[in-house]
Amino acid sequence: MDAIMPLKLLMTLVKRDTMKTAVVGAGAMGSLFGGLLAASGEDVTLVDVWREHVEAINAGGLRIGGHEEYRTVNVKATTDPSSVGPVDLIIVFVKSYDTLEATRDALPMVSEDTVFLSLQNGLGNIEKISEAVGGDRVIPGTTAHGCTLIGPGEIVHAGSGPTVIGELDGRVTERVRGIRDALEGAGFETMISEAIRGALWSKVLVNVGINPLTALNGLRNGELLDHPDIMEVMRGAVEEAIRVAEALGVNMGEGDHVEKVYDVARATAVNRSSMLQDVERGRRTEIDALNGAIVDSARLLGLDVPVNETLTAAVRGLEFERARREG
Ligand code: PAF
Repeated sequence: MDAIMPLKLLMTLVKRDTMKTAVVGAGAMGSLFGGLLAASGEDVTLVDVWREHVEAINAGGLRIGGHEEYRTVNVKATTDPSSVGPVDLIIVFVKSYDTLEATRDALPMVSEDTVFLSLQNGLGNIEKISEAVGGDRVIPGTTAHGCTLIGPGEIVHAGSGPTVIGELDGRVTERVRGIRDALEGAGFETMISEAIRGALWSKVLVNVGINPLTALNGLRNGELLDHPDIMEVMRGAVEEAIRVAEALGVNMGEGDHVEKVYDVARATAVNRSSMLQDVERGRRTEIDALNGAIVDSARLLGLDVPVNETLTAAVRGLEFERARREG
């Protein structure tokens, strides 16, 4: 064996017990996380309501593009959570508006020690999962990966970034370390945060700045930065969201948060944001859990957030018209 053992191989050799995992919501991001976890040797099942996607994955594997060449990963998939049996970890990746129902549907997979990790976009997911299964089971997280769903059984991994997870009370527990190790073993750079609420809000800033403007203009993330006028609107939306976060007492740490949003747009330049993908597929967007949630919080706090109000109204209008045209 080579003197310098590749890190991945080393991690496989010293590996802890595998974690039986279900990914609830196998869209682009759920498929990416579930697929790469399965490829690293974890026991994973993707759970999704989209039958054609599930059948394609079971028949020919999950095809993942975006790197030098497509790779095909064998991962189990089902539309029926009760066929999976109890699992150690449920990673929630459904759209924010489906969180409560999807968590309730996941109950057949829950045993005494099952933990839920949410890596979803938007505000309010943790509260909804906690409402269904209790806050003790929930680990919040956020990820900056960009991924596009091409069709049944096929995704393109269009940009990488860190994944941050952490207990709500800031403790660095065994379960959070175990999840970090599993994600790292699958190739996801993962950090444990002792201030996860701030990390969630930092990700909200990213989505508030990038998602509506890509959806409204039909642009990829990186293309936003080709337009100084659009960059100013991004800045406006993000600065308003920062004021809301500060008024709520959320600590997002030091640094220029607007620049960080531009950096994510750069790092995921070729990605079509999740909101653009939703609009293109005629699906409901997550605007209510993103810019819409900033508007709702600002109203309660007595703050003005005109940029977020405008973006929310414009995306809702787009959604409404698409739905009307498609009958
Ligand atoms: O929603 C998304 O698309 C993603 O959160 C991100 C990081 C903006 C990349 O496209």
